[in-house]
Amino acid sequence: EKGGYPHFMLKEINEEPAAITATVSPRVENSLPELRIPELTDEKLRSIGTVHLVGCGTAMHAGMVGKTAIEALARVPAEVDIASEFRYRDPILKPEDLVIIISQSGETSDTLAALKLAKSRGVPVLAIVNVVGSSIARAADYVMYTYAGPEIAVASTKAYMVQLCVLYLFALRLAYARGQLTEEKTKYYTAQLLHASEVIKPRLADCEQIKYLASRYVNTQSCFFIGRGFDYALSLEGSLKLKEISYVHSDAYAAGELKHGTISLITDGVPVIALATQKNVYEKTISNAKETRSRGARVLLFTTKDAEVPEGVATEVIRLDEYDDILMPLQLIVPLQLFAYYMAVLRGCDVDKPRNLAKSVTVE
Ligand code: F6R
Repeated sequence: EKGGYPHFMLKEINEEPAAITATVSPRVENSLPELRIPELTDEKLRSIGTVHLVGCGTAMHAGMVGKTAIEALARVPAEVDIASEFRYRDPILKPEDLVIIISQSGETSDTLAALKLAKSRGVPVLAIVNVVGSSIARAADYVMYTYAGPEIAVASTKAYMVQLCVLYLFALRLAYARGQLTEEKTKYYTAQLLHASEVIKPRLADCEQIKYLASRYVNTQSCFFIGRGFDYALSLEGSLKLKEISYVHSDAYAAGELKHGTISLITDGVPVIALATQKNVYEKTISNAKETRSRGARVLLFTTKDAEVPEGVATEVIRLDEYDDILMPLQLIVPLQLFAYYMAVLRGCDVDKPRNLAKSVTVE
């Protein structure tokens, strides 16, 4: 059942290329993204006010990437909400808004309650769900399924990957419909998105390198992930994955926020995992990494192949291939998932069933 892999989590990470193809290719026609929801016409997309992305845990983190992509590509305001906050906050929703509910299982109680709240306010709800016929899929106005196949490991990996893909498809169609992206640019991004299944294969093949890296950090008590923009969104997810399965305390910060308090926790030997894949803020993140290094941090820097890393900034540098900055999260998440996986394995943890956690949280 694990297809020769020692754990479901590793099997599921390796299923990501197939999940990407299954999720994206049926939604590309004439090289353009198609949402395949008859009611969500281009005209309707042009009239959307604010997009609200709502979910829990990893699904909410996918929403963070979605927000960044929607704002960058379509210039439409987007908000991310934790479902358990959204449902009790009396959120401000306007009839022209769209609520996007994100859930792998489609059964998370807080997420379902958030959906029902949005519907009771008359706001249209689009659900991005993996499990066909689940409660969330049934309650939503529109559904875009992710085709990850069954996800068994408690830690979500391949489902997150394809949640990102669907959010990119949505952001691209929204941008195209609203004239924010030309047809040519839209086709370019769509082709790049389809190509993600190939882009991540070398990252999966790098697993021995990541395992070695994990072996050098296996006794870590506490660590920090930092990044800006898309890299901040990935910091949140990389950090969650690590703590939930390896039981290493970990926190994620927007890189520029560190000096507003957290830097007092940076002492000799504390690992700082710095994500610097975005060209527009590269120098800024590097300079934050340097600040931690000068206070004794061990800096693991994830950046792109051709980025120039100044002397003395990083203890270790992990290089990704060149890929469009906006789509880079699809490539970057793979080594972060593998790092969490190998940390958990080397620390002797029950990788697929971490303590205190359930695959589907049906109580609030
Ligand atoms: C983390 C994880 C959880 C879930 C969260 C939402 O690896 O799996 O954070 O993402 O419980 O679950 P779904 O997506 O089923 O609503």
